[in-house]
Amino acid sequence: MSQIDYQHVLDEITKEVQPLLSQGKVADYIPALAEVEPNQFAIAIHTVDGQTYCAGDCGARFTIQSVSKVMTLTLALQRYGDELWQRVGKEPSGTAFNSLTQLEFEQGIPRNPFINAGAIVTCDALYSRLSAPMHSMLESFRQLSGNAQVVIDKKVANSEYEFRHRNAAMGHLMKSFGNFNNEVDDVLWAYFNFCAIELNCVELAKAYNYLANQGKDANGQEVLSARQNKQLNSLLFTSGLYDAAGDFGYRVGMPGKSGVSGTILAVLPNQFTVAVWAPRLNSYGNSVAGIAALERLSQKLDISIF
Ligand code: DON
Repeated sequence: MSQIDYQHVLDEITKEVQPLLSQGKVADYIPALAEVEPNQFAIAIHTVDGQTYCAGDCGARFTIQSVSKVMTLTLALQRYGDELWQRVGKEPSGTAFNSLTQLEFEQGIPRNPFINAGAIVTCDALYSRLSAPMHSMLESFRQLSGNAQVVIDKKVANSEYEFRHRNAAMGHLMKSFGNFNNEVDDVLWAYFNFCAIELNCVELAKAYNYLANQGKDANGQEVLSARQNKQLNSLLFTSGLYDAAGDFGYRVGMPGKSGVSGTILAVLPNQFTVAVWAPRLNSYGNSVAGIAALERLSQKLDISIF
């Protein structure tokens, strides 16, 4: 048993954020996402010594959306190492996650791997090296989360594909600059399937625990080298919440990654990963109650990575 009573802290936070659960708006640019019951909330911690704590709707599954971009980057870094940075940058964008404007000025090289354009080009790189990208991605989540039954929500994946125009525009623009090797629609189909992987908060915190554990999974196997893992966490800190990364860093003080389903994953190096989920979003596409919950966690545990 840890000296900190994480369960008590999570229970307290779950009570405190209740008034916020009706604030914000569920994402509706992907029609299938808008069907979720909007006032749900869950928060889970998975420690590097294997303990799990959860409060709220712990069993409820949701599509992980942009939080999948961290696994995409992980799998791409495993295969390309630093060569990947020839195709995608490391700088915060200061623009929305789905913005197209910088791509043209910057010759089809997206600012970072977490905005949509950056994740899509990273998927393109991965697509070139994997014979069955969706299978590889699912297997990674199955192994790392400890749930062999992890699936893709095909209704969400299909809905994203049907309404893919903006993401398709990014793919085609990058192709026009020579920074895209496969068919845009093929890569988008894989990307949407990655985004539509379904997990609950406990599974999400567990799957990404290597980020808190120097790049090693629960069995001590290396997912990323300690150096790559440190670099990935640094990029999450500067770009994981897009044009709200500065505010999130200021309020929460941990590397984090958000998704439009209302989930956020955050990392306290050498201690734990925490996953939160509350579907209603602010204008930056980040969970209102999720950010508030992580801010409270940071305050209650007096978290500092500096
Ligand atoms: O491509 C999209 O727009 C979505 N599948 C993912 C975007 C997302 O999660 C942005 N995060 N807050």
